[in-house]
Amino acid sequence: MNAFSYKNRDLYAENVAISAIAADVGTPLYIYSTQAMQEAYKAFTNAFSSQRTQVCFAMKSNSNLAVIKTLADLGAGADVVSNGELMKAISAGVKPKKIVYSGVGKTYEELSAGIEAGILQFNVESLPELLSLSDIAASKNTSVDIAIRVNPDVDAETHHKISTGRREDKFGIDISQAKDIFKQAFSLPGLNPVSIAVHIGSQLTDLTPFETAFKNVAKLTRDLRSNGIEIKRLDLGGGLGISYGNNTAPNPNDYAKIVERTIGNLDCDLIFEPGRYLTGNAGILLTRVIYYKDTGYRRFVVVDAAMNDLLRPALYDAQHSIQEAREPLGTADLIKVDIVGPVCETGDTFATEYPLSSPVSGDLLVIKDTGAYGAVMASTYNSRLLVPEVLVSGKDYALIRRRETLEEQISRELLAPWQNNIK
Ligand code: LLP
Repeated sequence: MNAFSYKNRDLYAENVAISAIAADVGTPLYIYSTQAMQEAYKAFTNAFSSQRTQVCFAMKSNSNLAVIKTLADLGAGADVVSNGELMKAISAGVKPKKIVYSGVGKTYEELSAGIEAGILQFNVESLPELLSLSDIAASKNTSVDIAIRVNPDVDAETHHKISTGRREDKFGIDISQAKDIFKQAFSLPGLNPVSIAVHIGSQLTDLTPFETAFKNVAKLTRDLRSNGIEIKRLDLGGGLGISYGNNTAPNPNDYAKIVERTIGNLDCDLIFEPGRYLTGNAGILLTRVIYYKDTGYRRFVVVDAAMNDLLRPALYDAQHSIQEAREPLGTADLIKVDIVGPVCETGDTFATEYPLSSPVSGDLLVIKDTGAYGAVMASTYNSRLLVPEVLVSGKDYALIRRRETLEEQISRELLAPWQNNIK
């Protein structure tokens, strides 16, 4: 079932009219469908039902506690990249033994906190990190499971800003050096080198780069095993793309076939770190039209959401489908408009030459497929308030992040002591 659909021309999130949520919470706001996340999780895990797999939800895509809890209740672990994410995962009920720690710059404090928490594994991305982790673990008289995250030098064929597996990218350890690093790890105190991790990028719509990367990982696994390093777990990262309306999404079953083909015979436990696949299509950004402005040259629909609420169009030229909360009656009356936010940048544009029925102030619009990398990347640019989030389940909805107040925002800032003469 599509979690967002029209009933009597009104757009619903599951069984709740989104206009009712807007009236209650105000706009802009994010709305997530529990059912859509559950279905995505099941589609992903069903594809791998014949393998020993653990899904570690990439929290960077959506780190709201209620979202994490929705997935944790289904059995998901977490892929974390900061102490904040680690603490949120634990407070949302994710078991530490289902947490992997990724990231190219984990600090001493972060490594330490991960060890204290007793997480499943650290995905190590450099020799200095390896040495640091060994020191910290040894000083605590413990040892930790590690993966070496390899950089396989594979182009993910996605947007260049979210490609992570090319040799020139900052991520991982060059796969040609991996064997030496594993040998070092093996000889260092406090480390159990048991795993290889790989993540070549995000929003992959062509599965071929995965196949190339996984083949390289399989080769390395065999090589390490023949050198006495017993790799028992492979972390294959995230990256599975979704449909944004203008592209075809790859099928998780085809992805699973590639995994089976490339590393299926290695008898390893598998970890996946999907983010976007689990939450992307499950979220919308609801916004209200402030003005409709016809310059004679161009028609602008100015809405109350902006690039600070959803950065993807400005940052990656991402195109999200936009829908009217009140279903248009036909296509005959549609006009082409630019849908823009109020922020003082031309980049604050959600869509250009987009077909809408004649918009008027107060109309509600929905920016679709924004459950991943939406709210998490929001900011207070232009001193706008951090956008709230709502979770829907059936006919229920709940505020899962309330709108920041202006007082809260202002109170975080201080005058310097010598400025205390402001009247
Ligand atoms: N694992 C690692 C190590 C990652 O760096 C990422 C994403 C993931 C897993 C999850 O990838 P996913 O399954 O979501 O594709 N802000 C960008 C996306 C950045 C992705 C960063 N890393 C966007 O809005 O497209």
